[in-house]
Amino acid sequence: MYQILLLFCVIYPSNGAIEISKHLKVCNRNSLDLNDCIVEAVRDGIEKMATGIEELDIPPLDPFFQDELKVEYKNNQIAVKMLIKNIYVEGLKGSTVHDARVRADEDNFYMEVDLSAPSIVIRGDFKGEGQYNALKVKAYGDFNTSMSDLIFTWKLDGVPEKNGTDTYVRIKSFYMRPDVGNMISHLNNENPETRELTNLGTSFLNQNWRVLYRELLPYAQSNWDKIGTNVANKIFSKVPYDQIFPSGT
Ligand SMILES: *[C@@H]1O[C@H](CO)[C@@H](O)[C@H](O)[C@H]1NC(C)=O
Ligand SMILES: *[C@@H]1O[C@H](CO)[C@@H](O)[C@H](O)[C@H]1NC(C)=O
Repeated sequence: MYQILLLFCVIYPSNGAIEISKHLKVCNRNSLDLNDCIVEAVRDGIEKMATGIEELDIPPLDPFFQDELKVEYKNNQIAVKMLIKNIYVEGLKGSTVHDARVRADEDNFYMEVDLSAPSIVIRGDFKGEGQYNALKVKAYGDFNTSMSDLIFTWKLDGVPEKNGTDTYVRIKSFYMRPDVGNMISHLNNENPETRELTNLGTSFLNQNWRVLYRELLPYAQSNWDKIGTNVANKIFSKVPYDQIFPSGT
């Protein structure tokens, strides 16, 4: 019966079906070396997705382009309101996939992938206002931030959901908390009136980047959650669960 069904499916592929294995490596969820297979699949996937996969509507991931990001930050003495535009993030394709752990069963999907990257560079344009006690600084221009020796784990949490006759995994969240070896930012403030101040501020930040990183991490994480969940769902929503991770027979 299974054979007949299979034959039927091969002859009559459901309309608009996407052959995922054409683009990405497929792993058998009951395989004993599932984790090794995932490592290979992610390694291969990063390479393919670096330039994007049109048929799966996946944007290029390296460089990854983000139109804009609003940052509002406030603590006791400091308030920053900034709009960052034309953001490019470069370097993901230089990363190494070390290990992966997957739990793919009927009710839950959970995946962790351990990676490291020698270098990630972020560039963009900024426009905003900072306040330090009574001192207000308006600035605009461009910036870049170079991070080196990153170690991070992608954590994807999802739930299989039935849609019609097929089951798809809906990714609910994407989480990572990169450990960064070093971080240096350059800020090119085009406002001459405040340039000296922003230069001072930048060198202060470069000396204390760990504090800055920790403070800004939650903003970055909510941004990554949206992007990671979105990209993952582009894969998972188009391809039935048992096609991404065939359960085998
Ligand atoms: C960042 O900007 C500075 C100053 O404009 C420049 O000297 C440096 O090469 C840039 N770094 C990267 C990685 O592009
Ligand atoms: C089910 O699939 C249809 C057609 O692909 C899609 O439009 C719809 O959003 C899906 N529903 C859910 C709950 O995912």
